[in-house]
Amino acid sequence: MIQETLVTTLNRFGKLHIAPMGIHFVENQPIILPFRPSTTLSNILETGVAVINYSDDVRIFAGCLTGRRDWQVKNAEKIVGKVLENTLAHAEVKLVHIEEDSIRPQLFCNIIHQVNHAPFKGFNRAQYAVLESAILLSRIKMLPITKIQTELDYLKIGLDKTAGSTELEAWDWIMTAIAEYTAGASDE
Ligand SMILES: Cc1cc2nc3c(=O)[nH]c(=O)nc-3n(C[C@H](O)[C@H](O)[C@H](O)COP(=O)(O)O)c2cc1C
Repeated sequence: MIQETLVTTLNRFGKLHIAPMGIHFVENQPIILPFRPSTTLSNILETGVAVINYSDDVRIFAGCLTGRRDWQVKNAEKIVGKVLENTLAHAEVKLVHIEEDSIRPQLFCNIIHQVNHAPFKGFNRAQYAVLESAILLSRIKMLPITKIQTELDYLKIGLDKTAGSTELEAWDWIMTAIAEYTAGASDE
């Protein structure tokens, strides 16, 4: 099972980093899989801890990929770390084992503390559409633009039917970033 989350980490000087990460869960053990190079990876190697935030605010996912990383946080409870203010729940985790890999190491963690902040409000197709579009943006240099456009056209059906203002704002950020990349790529 892979859960799309926001991982918050600090470097050794206490500088915050937020990144969307698909966490693999084997039973109840989270495995974080950052592609090298990664600030999340270096921070976890420096501090040995991270916070996994389960948030339905898709603006944070879209924002992290479009240069909007300034999101409100508060202190974690059992580790030196930060928790997103706008998260439904969070887990504070400790690194216990690394499977090294030159492309994508596996960081096996143990959950040492978990907190629920707000109820899960049900699935929403527009949130799914934003997450998928954010993943397409994160892979834009590897995928043909025609494939990206076809997928966006399909995702927009669910977006148009079910989005609230949060999802529309996040979608706009992603569409602007894709349009800017595409314009830049056609100039080359
Ligand atoms: C929903 C979603 C899931 C993602 N999952 C991962 C992941 O598991 N590993 C990864 O390296 N990047 C993942 N990314 C891309 C990273 O968030 C993004 O490239 C990040 O800025 C790179 O990592 P860093 O911030 O730690 O340097 C994901 C992006 C999205 C939108």
